[in-house]
Amino acid sequence: MHFRTRAIHVGQERDPATGAIVPPLHVASTFVQPDVSMSAAYDYARTASPTRNAFEATLAALDNGTRALAFASGMAATHCVTHLLAPGDRILTGTDIYGGTWRLFNKVLAGHGIAITAVDTTDPAAVRRAIGPDVKLVWIESPGNPLLSITEIAACAEIAHAGGALLACDATVATPALSRPLDHGADIVMHSATKSIGGHSDLLGGALVTRDPALGERLHWLQNATGGVMGPFEAFLCSRGLKTLELRVHAQSATALALAEWLAAHPRVKAVHYPGLVSHPGHAVARRQMTGGFGSLLSFELDGDVAAARTVAESTRLFQLAVSLGAVESLIELPAVMSHGSYDPAARRAVGIADGLVRLAVGLEAYEDLRDDLAAALT
Ligand SMILES: Cc1ncc(COP(=O)(O)O)c(C=O)c1O
Repeated sequence: MHFRTRAIHVGQERDPATGAIVPPLHVASTFVQPDVSMSAAYDYARTASPTRNAFEATLAALDNGTRALAFASGMAATHCVTHLLAPGDRILTGTDIYGGTWRLFNKVLAGHGIAITAVDTTDPAAVRRAIGPDVKLVWIESPGNPLLSITEIAACAEIAHAGGALLACDATVATPALSRPLDHGADIVMHSATKSIGGHSDLLGGALVTRDPALGERLHWLQNATGGVMGPFEAFLCSRGLKTLELRVHAQSATALALAEWLAAHPRVKAVHYPGLVSHPGHAVARRQMTGGFGSLLSFELDGDVAAARTVAESTRLFQLAVSLGAVESLIELPAVMSHGSYDPAARRAVGIADGLVRLAVGLEAYEDLRDDLAAALT
């Protein structure tokens, strides 16, 4: 079955009791047992619930995995992965990662005896040099947020596995519609479902997807033990979001590419970061590991100071000033003080996130309207 057919049919069977074409939303927190053995399919909704399971089944099929787990947020999903580690272990992370992930790794886990090393994962040789016996997890984001760097997933998987580590890939920006990291050797895929999977700026959610059943089972055990699960209403909305994911992401990618090309030719713009541009250093790798487009996120730098970037971000009308991405509305923001404000400023500048970087999350409005909005803000 093709991607968009799986998105509509896998895990989304009609209700056998009524024939309802949309599976019902089950809100129960507990399930009555036939006897004390707790052997029924469902017992308590933190462990499993029918509406969450339906979303998880669809997502696992879209990412070519065997198991998906839905969480209360992307950060809850990421946090669950880190519980695979013990004090004394090390995480190797990319440098172009979401600010909240940087904060969890460097400000929370580091205080619990987990060492963190950041390397430029777009350079496999740098990853190979940094790997050591204490590295148990390599954490990459591709495309990275906010610089849209491209990390070669297969190369990182080979290096991580040779060193005895797991490879986890935050694929929030790519979405399963454009990239399936498990096919390239990743062990765990993480999505902030708040973004493209939900797709309408009306829920918080996260997900992990795995292919190895034993790893999926271990993560489920940790999820149940720590408790950061997705609620049924959010799971229902995520299932609905997945049905149109491919259509939305393809349309957003086409608009984002057109805007990136237009911005690259604008006299006030110094640099545009978008993997769909042939001039992007990761374009060839992106073509190999992404299909159908290069995503809805792009960033650019102005030929001017931070105040100029701030003026642009505050003067668009269709691009609304807000963090997040992947929804139907287009958004604009300054990562240094907004989405990536949780970095230490020195660490942020060291990884190349300039104070004047402007990030665009492209929605589903018409290209011409979005272009005119930027043109007016850039005059
Ligand atoms: C790439 C990326 N990963 C993870 C997250 C965290 O997800 P959530 O906000 O759902 O916790 C975000 C949120 O902005 C993100 O952009």
